[in-house]
Amino acid sequence: MISGVQEYISFPIFIITVVVGLLILHLLKSRPTNIPPGPVGLPFVGYLPFLGSEPHLTLRNLAEKYGDILSFSICGKTVVYLNNYEVIREAFLKRGDEFAGRPQYPSFFRWLTDGTGIIQDEGRQWQEHRRFALHTLRDFGFGKLSLEGRVQEITKDILNTLKETKAMPYDVSTLLANSTANVISSLMFDKHYDYQNPEFLQLRNLTQTFLYAIPGLGSFIPRTYMNYLPSILLPTFKTINGVKKEFHEFVEKIIREHESTYQEANLRDYVDVYLEQKYRAEREERIDESTFTLKRLAAISLNMFLAGTETTSNTLYWGMKLMTFHPGIQDRVYKEIVEVVGKERLPSMVDRNNMPYTEATIMEIQRFANIVPLGIAHSNPEQTTLRGYTIPKRCVLLANLWNVHRDPKYWPEPEKFDPSRFLSSDGKVVKRESFIPFSIGKRICLGETLAKMELFLFFTAILQQFHIKAPEGDLKTFDRYTSIVRLLKPFKIVAVARD
Ligand SMILES: *[C@@H]1O[C@H](CO)[C@@H](O)[C@H](O)[C@H]1NC(C)=O
Ligand SMILES: *[C@@H]1O[C@H](CO)[C@@H](O)[C@H](O)[C@H]1NC(C)=O
Repeated sequence: MISGVQEYISFPIFIITVVVGLLILHLLKSRPTNIPPGPVGLPFVGYLPFLGSEPHLTLRNLAEKYGDILSFSICGKTVVYLNNYEVIREAFLKRGDEFAGRPQYPSFFRWLTDGTGIIQDEGRQWQEHRRFALHTLRDFGFGKLSLEGRVQEITKDILNTLKETKAMPYDVSTLLANSTANVISSLMFDKHYDYQNPEFLQLRNLTQTFLYAIPGLGSFIPRTYMNYLPSILLPTFKTINGVKKEFHEFVEKIIREHESTYQEANLRDYVDVYLEQKYRAEREERIDESTFTLKRLAAISLNMFLAGTETTSNTLYWGMKLMTFHPGIQDRVYKEIVEVVGKERLPSMVDRNNMPYTEATIMEIQRFANIVPLGIAHSNPEQTTLRGYTIPKRCVLLANLWNVHRDPKYWPEPEKFDPSRFLSSDGKVVKRESFIPFSIGKRICLGETLAKMELFLFFTAILQQFHIKAPEGDLKTFDRYTSIVRLLKPFKIVAVARD
């Protein structure tokens, strides 16, 4: 048939006609009735090419035209975007049940753990494992050390390494990432690694490769399209396929070690507590219905490493940069540490109640850094309405947490770094409702308590022992790039030991 057409018109003209025809059809195709307004994109890819390198900024600007709830399409999926605190709160908190799903079509995000794990899953088994994980993280009193004790052990590694820099300019990025990764290894596998351990090297390499391969918002692109556009969207798809396999083998090996040394009276870590559930189901002969499978344990481990490593370490990395810019604030934190903790012992979590200025400073670092600007996409399993608009079944919902933390309605002079926003006039910590770095509602970050503990213990121990400065001639900039996390480009600090 094509060759028949070609007898009359040339091939390029044929192609152009088809493309123009498709465009016209695309523009004429009416939006589903009563869904939130929003921009029209291109055929197939939708609005994806226009999101830019910092989608949270592009979307915030679109909201000025379309309002605080808007919609557009990406690769055939309807994305509903929530721009400010009120509308995010309404969807994720007040109506949490309706919007607590995750996109379930094949995408990079689901492919990572084959849809199991806690971050990607939904429904009954998600609830069960989320509850189990929260409970386990809360009661981590088993094993030789409490969770706090484990974090404190790793704090010592940070201090020793900083001491060895002898106040020469030093990039703390890997040190911080190694430390947060070691906290997760300790919690999951009861392993506090030496950083030169080949197993740790492999683990870090695997999680790093994943992190850099995660294509930001592209994580939610439907897989069918991904197969057509692999070189544009996922150049490393093949590599990470290998990495995924290697990661699973890594965790399986650790699980086998645990199985052979398991003692019910001495549960050492997350893997042991999980195995206990599995063994119990076996004893009670309900293993078929139990969701405590080894495959899911591997997926949960990957979740923990991906969600719990670079987020926390990069928040601290922002914190280091901010401390070099604000020596007055750093001095006040130091003074408070000396008053409350002294200089002879490491800070501990009980100190935090007596350290409002430090706590306010850490919250302000989180507000300022906005490490996960658009959170992680939610989905609504059933059609519903929001602010009078129809939300068709199974939309992709994005919430601009970055914008919530830059909204002048809640944060006067939002670009200013100022811990006193979190303090009352008599110097007590004020909880601000619109401070939601861990998101809100049923999908609020599972690791919130652990992350806060690491931020507090690492940050205060570093400032207790060192005065952090920028190297000579350093420029006062926040060069950064954004994937799913908002990262600072590499920089060095000078850590001068306090005497
Ligand atoms: C971090 O861990 C990697 C991988 O084991 C290691 O090669 C590197 O030296 C460590 N870096 C620091 C600063 O601890
Ligand atoms: C991981 O290891 C491979 C092979 O040794 C190497 O090519 C790659 O650059 C490493 N990736 C990271 C992120 O360190």
